[in-house]
Amino acid sequence: MAVRLCSNVSELLEIVKQQRDRNRTIGFVPTMGFLHKGHQSLIEASRNHGNFTVVSVFVNPNQFGPNEDFETYPRDSERDFELCGAAGGDLVWFPDVNDIYQEGSETAVVPGALSECLCGASRPRFLPGVLTVVLKFFNIVCPDLAYFGEKDFQQFVVIRRMAADFFMDIKVVGCPTVREPDGFAMSSRNVRLKPDQRDLALTLYRIIMKARDMFGKGERDAAALKESLTALWPSEIDLDYLDFRNPVSLQQVSVLAPDTRIFLGAWLDGVRLIDNGPLVG
Ligand code: PAF
Repeated sequence: MAVRLCSNVSELLEIVKQQRDRNRTIGFVPTMGFLHKGHQSLIEASRNHGNFTVVSVFVNPNQFGPNEDFETYPRDSERDFELCGAAGGDLVWFPDVNDIYQEGSETAVVPGALSECLCGASRPRFLPGVLTVVLKFFNIVCPDLAYFGEKDFQQFVVIRRMAADFFMDIKVVGCPTVREPDGFAMSSRNVRLKPDQRDLALTLYRIIMKARDMFGKGERDAAALKESLTALWPSEIDLDYLDFRNPVSLQQVSVLAPDTRIFLGAWLDGVRLIDNGPLVG
């Protein structure tokens, strides 16, 4: 069946209820739009699980800091609608900001220790804003499964934690980062890179590959590996963090293990770049 479009909450609830009455499980893919193959892989994962798949497209103002890129975040709803359909989405929901943040609404989710590091440290509004909007969406859509990309690994971990902490009957599924043929992690923000910045932006992936290579050759000392990798970092990119962390607790490790993840965050001419991956992938 062709993908459907809705922007109104009562219409969404009605469509989801009809599908539940037909014993369909509901899969949910929340996005901020400007979709790419990474988002499409989440929609495909939901479709392959046999779910009726709801995709939300909402650039959430409350997860951007005052000097961040809310205004310039790329947007193209027609294209998003087409790409959702092409990936097998069933319903694309474009929430109205006034429905999500109704007059008088003031309650927000306060994240814990998992949000204090990495992007949570340098972008303090990001994870509280994400958790609050995702909780609202979860309560509206009531999905059985919800899909998130592992490119935003910390986001995935904190959302999974929130679902467990609040006893939500929702399986939070992490899906692998989708990369360009040269390894560059797909992101809606990549469109803001100038052509000559593309190669510099690939530094994050190169560093991940170098970390894997050195781990493969026997390096187990996180501090030593961090020092070697930091020495390779080009001065044109502002490094925010380069850390080795446990994939569950997100605590820093001193002795590297195959499942240790390297996390990278940076800014290139105001464009946020993040990437991560396990040392043995
Ligand atoms: O990853 C994103 O696109 C957003 O942070 C999310 C999860 C849709 C919440 O606004």
